[in-house]
Amino acid sequence: MTDIAAFDTKTFSAVDKYIVDKLVEHDHVLDDILKRSNEAGLPAINVSAAQGKMLYLLAKIQGARRILEVGTLAGYSAVWMARALPKDGKLVTLEFEEKHAAVARESLKNAGFEHCTELHVGPAAESMRKMIESKVAPFDMIFIDADKESYSDYFDLALKLARSGTQIISDNIVRSGEILDPNSPDPRGHGIRAFLDKVAACKTVESTGIQTAGSKGYDGFALSVVL
Ligand code: SAH
Ligand code: DHB
Ligand code: MG
Repeated sequence: MTDIAAFDTKTFSAVDKYIVDKLVEHDHVLDDILKRSNEAGLPAINVSAAQGKMLYLLAKIQGARRILEVGTLAGYSAVWMARALPKDGKLVTLEFEEKHAAVARESLKNAGFEHCTELHVGPAAESMRKMIESKVAPFDMIFIDADKESYSDYFDLALKLARSGTQIISDNIVRSGEILDPNSPDPRGHGIRAFLDKVAACKTVESTGIQTAGSKGYDGFALSVVL
C-alpha cells in the first residue's frame, strides 16, 4: 500500500505528465499558446492538457455545434473545444481583460479558428445578457471558468442560453479543499460555495462534482446537464 503522504503535488504533476505523454498527442499550436501567454505575463491558470482534451472529448460526445466559454484567458481551452466543432460550428468566448483577449485572438487565428469563433471583450455577465436579449440560438455546451465570485450569476445566465440537453461544465469547484471552509477569507471560495448551493437547489439540471489532481494541483469541476 502506497503511503498517502506520497500523494503530493509533485506526484500529481508526475502522474499527469505520464498520462499526457501516453494519451494526449504533442501539439505545437497549443504549446505556442502557453508560451505566448507566459511571455505576455498572463497567469498560468489555463486548464491542463489532460483537462483540455477532456473538454474536447465532452464536446465530441455531445456533438456540440455551439459552445460558450466564460473566461478566455489566452484561448487555450477555447482552442481545445473549438477542435471538436463540426465545420459549421461556432464557439463564443467571453473575456474581461483586453490584454488577455489580444493574446487569445492571436491563438484562435493561429489555430485556424478565426472564422468560427467570436471573442466578446467586457464583463461576461453583460455579454451573456446581451446574447439573451438578442435571442441567440442556444448553446450545446457551456464552460464556466471566469471570476469565481460570479459563478452563481453565470450559472443563471447560462441556463437562459441553454436548451434541454446542454451540458454546463464549471471549473475550479474544489480549490485545494478550500470550499469546505465557510469562514475562508477568500471571496472566491465563497463564490464557489454559493454556486454549488444554487446548482444543488436548481430543479432543471442534474449535476455532479468531480475532484481532480494533476499539473494544476488539487481542484475539480462540476458537470450539469439541463433537463
Ligand atoms: N478558460 C481559460 C482560463 C480562464 S482564466 C483556459 O483554461 O485556458 C479566467 C479568465 O476569466 C481570465 O482571463 C480573467 O481575465 C477572466 N475574467 C475574470 N473576470 C471576468 C469577467 N467579469 N468577465 C469576463 N472574464 C473575466
Ligand atoms: C484560478 C482561476 C482558474 O480558472 C483556475 O483554473 C485556476 C486558478 C485563479 O483565479 O486563481
Ligand atoms: Mg479554471
